[in-house]
Amino acid sequence: MSTNNTTTSAYTDFHLQFIAGEWQTGKDDSSNTNTNPYNGDTLVEIQQATKDQLNEAYDAASQTQEAWAKQTPATRAAVLYKVVNILDQRQEEIVDWLIKESGSTRIKAMVEFSATRAITLEAATFPNRVHGEIRPSNTPGKENFIYREPIGVVAVISPWNFPLHLTQRSIAPALALGNAVVLKPASDTPVTGGLLLAKVFEEAGLPKGLLNVVVGSGSEIGDAIVEHKAPSLVSFTGSTSVGKHIGELANGGEYIKQVALELGGNSPFVVLKDADIEQAVKAAAFGKFLHQGQICIAINRVIVEDEIYDDFVERFLAHVKTLNVGDPNKQDTAVGPIINAKQVKSLKEKIAKAQEEGAKMILSGEIEGQVVPPHIFTEVTREMDLSRNEVFGPLVGIIRAKDEDDALSIANDSMYGLSSAVFTTDMQKGLRFARGIRAGMTHINDISVNDESNTPFGGEKNSGIGRFNGEWVLEEFTRTHWISMQNEPREYPF
Ligand code: TAP
Repeated sequence: MSTNNTTTSAYTDFHLQFIAGEWQTGKDDSSNTNTNPYNGDTLVEIQQATKDQLNEAYDAASQTQEAWAKQTPATRAAVLYKVVNILDQRQEEIVDWLIKESGSTRIKAMVEFSATRAITLEAATFPNRVHGEIRPSNTPGKENFIYREPIGVVAVISPWNFPLHLTQRSIAPALALGNAVVLKPASDTPVTGGLLLAKVFEEAGLPKGLLNVVVGSGSEIGDAIVEHKAPSLVSFTGSTSVGKHIGELANGGEYIKQVALELGGNSPFVVLKDADIEQAVKAAAFGKFLHQGQICIAINRVIVEDEIYDDFVERFLAHVKTLNVGDPNKQDTAVGPIINAKQVKSLKEKIAKAQEEGAKMILSGEIEGQVVPPHIFTEVTREMDLSRNEVFGPLVGIIRAKDEDDALSIANDSMYGLSSAVFTTDMQKGLRFARGIRAGMTHINDISVNDESNTPFGGEKNSGIGRFNGEWVLEEFTRTHWISMQNEPREYPF
């Protein structure tokens, strides 16, 4: 799929901001110390951006967007195809950054790299896929044209867990469709969530000013990014609490703007009594522990029908015990470090709470540094904290369901509705069950962790609004303009 060009020199200067097409020093007094979550090494120290620098980024985006939108589709597509080539050439360098900055295991880093490449390739088709419509009119002599135009300037705020992919999933479509972008990556992953992609787009020849990366703390400049006059759309991926706040700001401030919100999840993974248990066990382990469970679509609740519960638990425990835990850089590590100390603390609290609430801990292990080994809890009920809230870590609760109806009722008993999964050997039953789940995505006989660049990705309820990928994001990142043309004098009533 890709080649590693060893003659390409590695990108440098990640201590700088990328604003108006120039690499410049942040002018705020505070700085971001970017560390490796596995060994604590400092990777880079970044002086944060001020609000003036944010304004500069928005000015650059606003000034360059219209000319970019007027470029031919072929010109815009060519930049995206070039980005794909550069990603391929720099695959090793990028994977290395994903491991050292976001604590990705090698397996996860490759999954993320592939997803990033796929959405970039998909986005390269968007300039030629976007199209308008002609609709009939009930008014004699009128023609109705529906134009699809770039939305203008797009603000992108991205998270730390799949930083490269979840950032690229917004910025590649936005740019392909003729928009300009101001991006704020998460403070834990400023490089893989933004600066590295800025280097790639710069090398690909994207005109200056169209992509700006502003590194600063969400609590310091987050509101200013959303409330600024320039962006017509705020594309946010992150927690439900911050997403709600952004939704309020975007619709309650001086300037109303569209929002695309990809928020938290609480994915149910349902194993019905006729499932292939061995396959379900392997899926549950991968779908739960990939990236230490720090994925919005990770399995959060394992729900197993009573008849096979004990058998499933026994085999799952045996399989999870075989997983290698520790150094993410090692080829065979399945579970690496948690992103930061705050998240580790929250996981420790969840472990204590699960036990207090009466869940039985059948697997645990010593927490060393930021590495939390898998923890398995059985006899978990739907009322417990483990079931009600997103864990975002390598802890899993297994819930016993009386029967299929009970399993569906438990699966739907959540304020989230992002992804989900069901295992059964009866495909009709699987489809019926899947259609009964209130979620944006359900996978039959697979994990809840799936993202394909040509299928709609997004959630319901508190998991957000809007869809990524394929024609769904094409609509999200453009605006609709109805233009009618009256070709003969119209008769008015007065
Ligand atoms: P958040 O704390 O919500 O952070 C996400 C982004 O929002 C970061 O860039 C953060 O910046 C920024 N931010 C924080 N406060 C802000 C504010 N007041 N205004 C504007 N931006 C602000 O989430 P996280 O801890 O990075 O990620 C974990 C959560 O995200 C989980 O709930 C997970 O489910 C969800 N998530 C969802 C998805 C999808 S696709 N639905 C994907 C990944 C993650 P700083 O880093 O500077 O604080």
